[in-house]
Amino acid sequence: YPLKHPEYQDWSFAGVFGKYDQAQLQRGFKVYREVCAACHSLERVAFRTLESHEGPGFTEEQVKQIASEYEVTNADPDENGDMFQRPAKPSDHFPLVFPNDVAAAAAMGGAVPPDLSLIAKARAVERGFPWFVFDMVLPYQEQGPDYIHALLSGYEDPPAGVEVPEGTYYNPHFIAGISLKMPPPLAPDQVEYTDGTPQTVDQYSKDVSAFLMWAAEPHLVARKEMGFRVMIFLAIFAVLLYLTKRRIWADAH
Ligand code: HEM
Repeated sequence: YPLKHPEYQDWSFAGVFGKYDQAQLQRGFKVYREVCAACHSLERVAFRTLESHEGPGFTEEQVKQIASEYEVTNADPDENGDMFQRPAKPSDHFPLVFPNDVAAAAAMGGAVPPDLSLIAKARAVERGFPWFVFDMVLPYQEQGPDYIHALLSGYEDPPAGVEVPEGTYYNPHFIAGISLKMPPPLAPDQVEYTDGTPQTVDQYSKDVSAFLMWAAEPHLVARKEMGFRVMIFLAIFAVLLYLTKRRIWADAH
């Protein structure tokens, strides 16, 4: 089947000095909350992490407000031994959308919407020769968000003569077949942006992909900064070692 390769996007978090764009992550979270959260959970993400300055950087008050809009099951039962629901606190994780995969599959016609917490690191498209050689040593880390962006904005009508199974939607970017059971989730002007950013499917897809990259890699910026310092240290250390070697062997014949 004709798999289309995702187009490379210009992500703010790409490269050695890459950083997440806070406004973009906040918009992406809005898209997740208003659209994707109808079907997809974010089970591994705790509300409190939305406060991270490297990440979306919501204020403490905003995070409390966001958490309180969700209901979670308390970890301990009440005095009668019954489990009970309560509004979430910042220390809680996002609750599951469906109680389990069986219920999810029943609601979605057989397909289970995957949890999105790690999806940006769990999807990639092979780039083929010669790129895979470079990818081994210089990992192209934006494959996940490139793929999610391409998938969300890449629905098309099937080409003439191509039949897709009932209940599925043609998408040449989907890695596992010609069509998938997720209906095209985004439409222009579906989510309101208050900062003047264009309300297009392309922009929504970019913003939610960036948000999902942050969810999967919340320490990316710190990791890159540390990596850069380590490289500087190693460069200086190599020079020192070389000078030491020259001194030690200065009299050798
Ligand atoms: C699959 C993202 C909205 C239902 C997926 C996949 C991603 C994704 C990345 C995995 C594709 C793969 O396996 O390679 C999103 C995002 C959304 C969104 C970012 C919001 C913008 C929705 C909505 C629904 C939904 C609203 C339900 C109406 C599904 C289902 C699958 C799926 C059923 C499994 C498809 C299959 O394997 O055939 N989604 N999704 N998604 N999504 Fe969504």
